Amino acid sequence: MSYAPGTVLPGPHAKGLGATARSDAWWAAPLGFFLLLAGFVVYSTWAAFQGAHYWVPGTNYISPFYSPELWGTSPHAWFGAAPPFWPLAILQYSPALLILGIPAGFRLTCYYYRKVYYRAFWADPTACAVGEPRNDYWGENFLPLILWNAHRFVLYLAIIFTCILGYDALKSFIFTTKDGGHAIGIGIGTVILTLNTVLLMGYTLGCHSFRHLVGGRCDSFGAKGSTTHSLWSGVTWLNERHPFFAMISLCWVAASDVYVRVLSISGWHDHLILFRF
Ligand code: FES
Repeated sequence: MSYAPGTVLPGPHAKGLGATARSDAWWAAPLGFFLLLAGFVVYSTWAAFQGAHYWVPGTNYISPFYSPELWGTSPHAWFGAAPPFWPLAILQYSPALLILGIPAGFRLTCYYYRKVYYRAFWADPTACAVGEPRNDYWGENFLPLILWNAHRFVLYLAIIFTCILGYDALKSFIFTTKDGGHAIGIGIGTVILTLNTVLLMGYTLGCHSFRHLVGGRCDSFGAKGSTTHSLWSGVTWLNERHPFFAMISLCWVAASDVYVRVLSISGWHDHLILFRF
């Protein structure tokens, strides 16, 4: 780049936490994300330790925080009541505690989330051209951050989890009738859980690692219209909207748990449209 004679070039920005020449509200985004993510962590931790009110009798609704329910007391459990290895004497069992590490690990290692919480939680950096609390840069070369390289492997598990939640969404169209039979229908919970799967798919399939998985490992995409190129283009569309799907799916998964929990605790009936055959 060349500059005209007399141009005043921007120098290195001021050092020190928050020091900057920027006059816009650069702090608004990190503050907003801090509040959003901190709120989600507090709520999801609380919900995970409850071990109750995560499913709704008479429906097939199950909170996405608790699915897959490997061991548990609901009709959705795969094996039995409690895993034989669980230290019940010191920690009350909750099915969510067995599985939440996978979706949590997926978001924790996500390239987009890393940018967001590095800025919001430890100001590294707080924003572009804003001073940091330190002068050196360590990168992600040491523990624990070097473990974040496992993101591509957590992706495989996240895809399996998303498929299971998709199965839950399909099951949510089936209800138990008063005479003990079954009927197909739609409730508000059906809409919420189905949308939850759609948003999670939008987030998971827009992952940078998934984009490489479907479009990488070759020197050329070949002719436009090839399967590889079509897949890569589709994932690219999602990838360009990754920040949107990352945040909206986070909020929606918490909202899904809230809805199931409210129905389960209150005993309220969902508004249903049943189709009888
Ligand atoms: S980069 Fe965000 S989920 Fe993989």
